Amino acid sequence: MKISIGCDHIVTKEKNHLVKYLKEKNHEVIDNGTYDKERTHYPIYGKKTAEKVVSGEADLGIVVCGTGVGISVSANKVKGARAALVADVETARYARENLNANVIAVGGRIVGMGLIENIIDVFLETEYNKTEENERMIEKIDALAENTEQMNNQKYFDEFIEKWDRGEYHD
Ligand code: RB5
Repeated sequence: MKISIGCDHIVTKEKNHLVKYLKEKNHEVIDNGTYDKERTHYPIYGKKTAEKVVSGEADLGIVVCGTGVGISVSANKVKGARAALVADVETARYARENLNANVIAVGGRIVGMGLIENIIDVFLETEYNKTEENERMIEKIDALAENTEQMNNQKYFDEFIEKWDRGEYHD
């Protein structure tokens, strides 16, 4: 797989470790930086990393900052990116399987490296479950970034609410 990865200066060491980890697992890695500990800004690397995924240059993305919050929010502003900030394996699996998340975000100062490795393994191994339901939901979510139809539109999610009311959700 081809993986796009990026981080801010707080977690360069952790990102470098992950680059090595991924290469050892025979993944091709696009390292978008940052490359040292000089103060920089996480949106730069969230944007760069997500853009490589959305353009198709990379299959999936990994973003890391201190908490994972700043860089995941930034990555999510790239149209077509679905970045999931996670701190456990099951959430990583869910994000990939149901939301077709294409970027995983972790807090390098929050989550231990062993768990980060497990999260990444599961994220990369899990396949998207392309059901009609998942597709329609993702389509709606992605469209939030590009249309104005949803702005101040209280009816935007009505079809899902109606499904709920009809008792079609069972989980
Ligand atoms: C440092 O800029 C720190 O704010 C960042 O790494 C991250 O934790 C933000 O969410």
